[in-house]
Amino acid sequence: GKVAVLLGGTSAEREVSLMSGTGVLQALRSLGVDAHAFDPAERSLHELKADGFARAFIALHGRHGEDGTVQGTLELLGIPYTGSGVMASAICMDKVMTKRVWLAEGLPTPRWVRLGAGELQRERVIAVPDELGLPLIVKPPREGSSIGISKVQGYSEMQDAVQLAARYDHDVLCEEFIEGTELTCPVLGSGDAARALPVIRIAAPDGNYDYEHKYFSDDTGYHIPSGLAPEEEAEVQRLTLAAYRVLGCRGWGRADLMLRASDRKPFLLEMNTSPGMTGHSLVPMSAKAVGIDYPQLCLQLLQAATL
Ligand code: DAL
Ligand code: MG
Repeated sequence: GKVAVLLGGTSAEREVSLMSGTGVLQALRSLGVDAHAFDPAERSLHELKADGFARAFIALHGRHGEDGTVQGTLELLGIPYTGSGVMASAICMDKVMTKRVWLAEGLPTPRWVRLGAGELQRERVIAVPDELGLPLIVKPPREGSSIGISKVQGYSEMQDAVQLAARYDHDVLCEEFIEGTELTCPVLGSGDAARALPVIRIAAPDGNYDYEHKYFSDDTGYHIPSGLAPEEEAEVQRLTLAAYRVLGCRGWGRADLMLRASDRKPFLLEMNTSPGMTGHSLVPMSAKAVGIDYPQLCLQLLQAATL
């Protein structure tokens, strides 16, 4: 039957989603799938039913796409969709909620302070480095693609960083900075069949893997094989799979991690439930390393679509 590739949408990651969705659309069509672009910024999801769509491939990122709202609507419409269900999507969209789950399960994640909307005044903000040390990371809890993120080097930078993050969310996540190596590890599959793919080590210029370096620059190094010792690679994969399972993810996902330089200990930063599928994106690179090309990856995800 007809497949809707949900793309675009209204989040701050709209531009990224258009790139992901266009790639997925072309790939599915190249395999003979009757796939059509559907931009939730322009059309109501309720039209999917009237238009006779049998399944949806979610290539949306960020709020109203990756956060359980679209998933819930598709549940109500009875249209099977790719990726995680409502609960896992909603938890993973919120990095603070995600970290609470991991902490409760004994999985390592950097220490953090959440500042609520009523705690953004100077006296409170300026006290955060005393709790987390410097440098530290300030981010909106419910964004992706590094939007609204700052690395704070000194007390004087705190207020600006918090104000920037607060432009994108009602509260602000301040996180201990882990000095070390940036890693990402995708997962494919659900339940007992879920498997971690090869780890990618990211080497952005000056350690600055921001929006520009994620999507538009060619000077970011993606190392796969990761160059980690085999037991380190296995540990990161084990941790990623555990992180995916406790969150109740299904279909696919991608954990972002830091490997601490001082003791080689990995820390989980976040779980992406609708990872990027752009030409610069990470899940396709990792899948390719195990012989799954981009079109096959899209098809495999689509075939696992469920309610
Ligand atoms: N949030 C972007 C799309 C990613 O994690 O790939
Ligand atoms: Mg993300």
